[in-house]
Amino acid sequence: MRIAVLASGRGSNLQAILDAIRDGALDASVVGVFSDRRKALALQRARDAGIPAVAVSPSSFETREAFDAALFAEVAAVQPDLIVCAGYMRLLGAAEVEAWHGRMINIHPSLLPLHKGLRTHAQALADGVTEHGCSVHFVTAELDGGPVIAQATVPVLAGDDEDALAARVLDREHPLLIATLQLFTSRRLSLDGASVQFDGRPLRAPLRLAGMDLREMDT
Ligand code: GRF
Repeated sequence: MRIAVLASGRGSNLQAILDAIRDGALDASVVGVFSDRRKALALQRARDAGIPAVAVSPSSFETREAFDAALFAEVAAVQPDLIVCAGYMRLLGAAEVEAWHGRMINIHPSLLPLHKGLRTHAQALADGVTEHGCSVHFVTAELDGGPVIAQATVPVLAGDDEDALAARVLDREHPLLIATLQLFTSRRLSLDGASVQFDGRPLRAPLRLAGMDLREMDT
């Protein structure tokens, strides 16, 4: 499976993918890393791994549509089977989302549909939830609103601040992303319209990470 990664910053999720491939845990290759920020650490991680690293600067384009088209032309050129948005902090264009329907996923640091958008850990603390976590979902036109494939939960502990909670969630993001990608490599996941298909039938509830493995939830 050829994976293209979109990232705006640190790239720890990208690194988790690269490490899983190196360790033989994921039968895939990262064929390109793409960013809207020239200085993204994710690009450096790609270069260090000998992977094409491409920055496309939004300020070089007059419109968002032109930027999106240029970025996705670069992505298409590496012929990915799957695009993984891993900390890509920009809205995606409708044309690109449509063109890659069912072939683009995102990792989001909350238990969707709760806490969409930015500062999800602060949102969770403000809501007083006792459980928080992360989700991997197919990308659709609605921001953080596409069909959810899999989730991992963490407890919210007394005394948590945003950073402590973010660190606990990030620790689960990496195995969640890898376990989800393993299902893609074994062709067990697809998207039919708005319905996630798992082993050829509709998934009724997001898969749940238990340890390092994804399980179906009883519904
Ligand atoms: C992660 O929390 C991811 O869920 C969110 O942005 C963060 C990116 O982290 N979308 P990294 O760049 O992968 O380290």
